[in-house]
Amino acid sequence: MSQSYDRGLIEDFSRWREFEAGMWAWIFHKFTGWVLIGYLFTHIAVLSTGIPASGAETAVLQAGTDVYTQTIVSLEQLLLVRILEVGLLAVAVFHMLNGTRLLLVDLGVGLESQDRSFYASLVLTGAITVASVPTFVAGAF
Ligand code: HEM
Repeated sequence: MSQSYDRGLIEDFSRWREFEAGMWAWIFHKFTGWVLIGYLFTHIAVLSTGIPASGAETAVLQAGTDVYTQTIVSLEQLLLVRILEVGLLAVAVFHMLNGTRLLLVDLGVGLESQDRSFYASLVLTGAITVASVPTFVAGAF
């Protein structure tokens, strides 16, 4: 037996109000997963590209310890970089916690408390992110 549902129009903005915990968990997991992929590619690109300070177009990792250290030190002096690092930590922590939760759900563990475990992932991510701020931002200068 098949049933049909009136799912309404996706263009209708009021549908955002219908989103429940599971939908947000799905969106956040997708978002954080793709941000991590984006970071990974950017990270590799930065490390394999020459920097002006060295004069020559040599990869940072091949140019030697001095150039590498100099690059990292000058990047870490920028407040924006520190803030982006906190954001990256938040994204990674959420993806790890929620991902572990999803793997447990796939194994049939905690099926009855999926909303609560999602909220726990959010709260724990928030707490770990806030706790990291002194290290990333205040400890910078
Ligand atoms: C402890 C570490 C991690 C855990 C436990 C984890 C867990 C998961 C799980 C369970 C899924 C599938 C979710 C589903 O059922 O739809 C997933 C999706 C994904 N993960 Fe991870 N992951 C981890 C680390 C990473 C890292 C380091 C990256 C990127 C560099 C990454 C990128 C992605 C992407 C792109 C997806 C697909 C998102 C989509 O649905 O489009 N994950 N992860």
